[in-house]
Amino acid sequence: MSSAPSTPHLVLQATGLNKRYGHVVALDGADFELAQGEILAVVGDNGAGKSSLIKALTGAVSPDSGEVFIDGHTVRFRSPLDARLAGIETVYQELAVATELDIAQNLFLGREQRKQGILGNLFGQLDKAGMRRQAAEHMKNLGIRVQSIRQKVETLSGGQRQAVAVARAAAWGKKVIILDEPTAALGVRETKQVLDLILKVRDQGLSVVLISHSMPNVFEIADRIHIHRLGRRATIVTPKTTSMSDVVAVMTGALKPDDVKSAVFTTH
Ligand SMILES: Nc1ncnc2c1ncn2[C@@H]1O[C@H](COP(=O)(O)OP(=O)(O)O)[C@@H](O)[C@H]1O
Ligand SMILES: [Mg+2]
Repeated sequence: MSSAPSTPHLVLQATGLNKRYGHVVALDGADFELAQGEILAVVGDNGAGKSSLIKALTGAVSPDSGEVFIDGHTVRFRSPLDARLAGIETVYQELAVATELDIAQNLFLGREQRKQGILGNLFGQLDKAGMRRQAAEHMKNLGIRVQSIRQKVETLSGGQRQAVAVARAAAWGKKVIILDEPTAALGVRETKQVLDLILKVRDQGLSVVLISHSMPNVFEIADRIHIHRLGRRATIVTPKTTSMSDVVAVMTGALKPDDVKSAVFTTH
């Protein structure tokens, strides 16, 4: 592996990921690199393998071959929980919120807090009031408006559900936050909230992976753009040096990856 002296710290990286479903090749030697503190957009046509890439990176599916690295060390996640424990929070495209639970319960799902002292330690009583208070504060800080934190998620609009899922990722992600099409179901105002939230998270030093179909959104906030095509990374570009129409042209195969200026840090 050769790399330029200026190569930034890579928090999450993968080389040569392969994944087949029967005859379908979802990942075909896909490389991936995410630098510390950047927003990396991942774009590509439907079926290009973007969601498969995210799943292979986060233990939601196990790749047939290929390697994943966190902070330069090889990892093998067996489930999304393994990835979460390593500081990677993911909002998958098939939205994972528990609709029968309320907003506060969803934010603390799998991370419920116990009461202090004997009630919590011995009897396992949950600190529901405390969790509700923190959940309400968190949603307010993120500028996400809901009537009540005790509202069941099944009563929320699609956009509000998405906002709850993003809020949960932002609350717990220690290192990396991955969002697979987080604004697909959102209106204009909600989309802006999610984009602002992503910028906030990045400004706190976390790294963000944003899969999106919206080129204007991608060009507004991404530091680099990973272009995915036919199961692998075609190249990475920056919004500063490559136009929207050239990104789309690489996505669809009208332009070769070598025809645009590469912003790939490492070559293998
Ligand atoms: N669980 C699965 N079973 C069978 N085929 C799948 C499965 N998941 C993805 N695929 C196929 O893999 C390819 C890549 O899909 P996906 O990763 O969802 O692409 P994208 O997110 O870029 O639209 C598609 O052809 C899709 O039909
Ligand atoms: Mg997808």
